[in-house]
Amino acid sequence: MLRVTLPMLLLLWRQDLVFGVRIVELRVPTHEREGGVALLGCQYDMEGDPLYSVKWYKDGDEFFRYSPNSLPSIMLFKCSGVTVDITRSSNTVVALVNLTQESSGKYSCEVSGEAPAFRMSKKDKRIVIQLLPQSGPRLTGGSDKYFLNDLVVMNCSSPPSRPDAHLKWLINDVPVSRERVFGPWYKISPDRGDALEVTLQLKFYAMPTDFVDGVMRIKCQATIAPMYQRETSSNHNLAIPFTAETSVSNTASDTNDGVALSLGYALYLVSFGLLM
Ligand SMILES: *[C@@H]1O[C@H](CO)[C@@H](O)[C@H](O)[C@H]1NC(C)=O
Ligand SMILES: *[C@@H]1O[C@H](CO)[C@@H](O)[C@H](O)[C@H]1NC(C)=O
Repeated sequence: MLRVTLPMLLLLWRQDLVFGVRIVELRVPTHEREGGVALLGCQYDMEGDPLYSVKWYKDGDEFFRYSPNSLPSIMLFKCSGVTVDITRSSNTVVALVNLTQESSGKYSCEVSGEAPAFRMSKKDKRIVIQLLPQSGPRLTGGSDKYFLNDLVVMNCSSPPSRPDAHLKWLINDVPVSRERVFGPWYKISPDRGDALEVTLQLKFYAMPTDFVDGVMRIKCQATIAPMYQRETSSNHNLAIPFTAETSVSNTASDTNDGVALSLGYALYLVSFGLLM
């Protein structure tokens, strides 16, 4: 039976410390966009050993090898989802271009020392490739003006993406309460079976508290963490029945009109409050 003594353990530990080829830092992005570029960095310390090779793997398949004693020193191997730009790659960096969904996976860097020891160190990290929407969220429905108690119905749709976008409604920059929100509904992209268009509906009866100085600013925010966030907003004016002829104008810039509008708005709110 092998007896492991403390001095033996110390020896093993010290050998590792002194002669170990060590990967100091593996710099791989956690997320990248489809069609984009990913720079993979592998910083190592040979701790005195001569370098034999640096190899890169995706999901266990080697796609890149750098060996200083070979000609050419860089060799590429076919691997699905992997396109290397050799002009931007070296012993410490590999540039992946034209990223696709197939590029998602586990990337490993393996550094080996020369014979006779062939000491080796390997580290890996995952990359997730996201298909980001071609444009920001789109608003449909809705009117320029609303009377109090009018039904407001609007949709917000985010163009196809993978994963699907998280949508959120805000009124005057305050998140909308759940009972005013319907959906989300998902639709598979006609061009891409793996991409989803998302729609979220906003539906409620306009209340005085929905307006700030007679304006309701409705905003929809689309998020695909951690790479993407965009928002689209529209302004809707409070329509005032009894001053409609004189001062309810979107483009009122005249000072007197502005005062009339504020006064009318205040009166309207008061009368609405009394009715309730
Ligand atoms: C990346 O894709 C573009 C457009 O499809 C193409 O022109 C280019 O040659 C590709 N780059 C590589 C390194 O394959
Ligand atoms: C909102 O989206 C839902 C679900 O896609 C659809 O049934 C409805 O007609 C849309 N309404 C508007 C105002 O766009």
